[in-house]
Amino acid sequence: MNKMNSLSGNPYIVKKEEKIIIDLIPLDEIFEKYTTPLLIFLKNRIRDNIKMFDEVFKEEFERFEFFYSLKANYLSEICEIVSSEKIGAEVVGLPELRVALNTGFSPEKIIVGGLYLPLDLIEFSIKNKIKEIIIHNIEDIDKINEVAYKYSTVQNVCLRINSGKYDSRMGIKLGEFSLKSLKKTITKSKNVKVTSILSHFGSQMNNIDQYKRHVKLVIQNLKLLKTHDILIENINFGGGFPEATVMPKSQLKKIARMIKSCLVESNMTNKRIFFEPGRYLVGDSGLFLAEIVNVNEDRWIFLNVGNHICPKFARCSLRFYNATQINNPHKFKTSIAGIVPTDQDVLAKNYFFTKDPKKEDKVIITNTGAYCLTFSNRFPYPLPKIVLIEGRDIKTIFDPQIDNDFSIG
Ligand SMILES: Cc1ncc(COP(=O)(O)O)c(C=O)c1O
Repeated sequence: MNKMNSLSGNPYIVKKEEKIIIDLIPLDEIFEKYTTPLLIFLKNRIRDNIKMFDEVFKEEFERFEFFYSLKANYLSEICEIVSSEKIGAEVVGLPELRVALNTGFSPEKIIVGGLYLPLDLIEFSIKNKIKEIIIHNIEDIDKINEVAYKYSTVQNVCLRINSGKYDSRMGIKLGEFSLKSLKKTITKSKNVKVTSILSHFGSQMNNIDQYKRHVKLVIQNLKLLKTHDILIENINFGGGFPEATVMPKSQLKKIARMIKSCLVESNMTNKRIFFEPGRYLVGDSGLFLAEIVNVNEDRWIFLNVGNHICPKFARCSLRFYNATQINNPHKFKTSIAGIVPTDQDVLAKNYFFTKDPKKEDKVIITNTGAYCLTFSNRFPYPLPKIVLIEGRDIKTIFDPQIDNDFSIG
């Protein structure tokens, strides 16, 4: 009988007859052709994740849209896969906006905005007729209004409201004073229409209660806006979902149902619902192939991938497998470090790994598709080669020997 297991719950990384297969390619074949470190992306996984997200939320909400948050991974090839699924994009600055437009996202499905809205970003967005500009400060409405007036248009705007979580500094805090000032600014800004509110509550949110607290806060803010005759059509709940392999469909469904019932309870079912997921769509589509470069007697192993390219800041749900000894039990506590020359370069502590890891053993690190590249730096090693796998096809999308850099600017 064939025994088939997926690694870290990813159906595109499976162990079949004691061998690992990545989509349809045996891992051994990849090691014959490529050196480590190698960053792999799985095209089909991105497509599956998009379909799953769409299916679950469409079941609850008739008027629902979602926008891929490019900051999770702005590689053109990844953006092209996402845009070909006809969903929207959320970008924070001009370089990302250019990538989104160049990779096939249509402007009427692009939401633009970050903490900082420079004039050139506003102007480029308005010229390109993008869907909405997100504002974090009331004064930004004036800036957008001026540019929209210059181009004789009315620009839709989304208010980023403060999520009310801990001491979050991001977004507008709605109080008596700010509401009055907002109302005044909106009334005089004839070239701006406030259509949406956005609240993003955090990253890697696994617990349904976190989502519930968030939804209640958003509803509270919508009610406050209504008391000042500021009527909002669309609610954007931001992102914050974990990797799709970490959040099963049943949990995603529970979240969708909970949001729906909170909105029904508050008579807000007429609103359009938006999300801006990043990690959920691409997080588990990425994996690193690395190698052990050193083993200490106190069960510390050193990999040729470190925090410079697999940063803590990315908050990935990292899973480690000894590919060379994949048939041995992974149940011995091992600490895993990278190669940046600092004791802080720790990838995992007391992680269950094989009993006797050896220098040159190959290691698979899963769930590295989101934020690794965005938060990466070049200290102090060359960038890895990056490949895209689809079925039996493997295509190099970044080669540090030939290409300049994958950063955008
Ligand atoms: C406003 C906003 N939207 C969406 C996202 C995407 O979040 P995630 O990748 O956790 O889904 C972020 C991430 O920081 C964000 O700040």
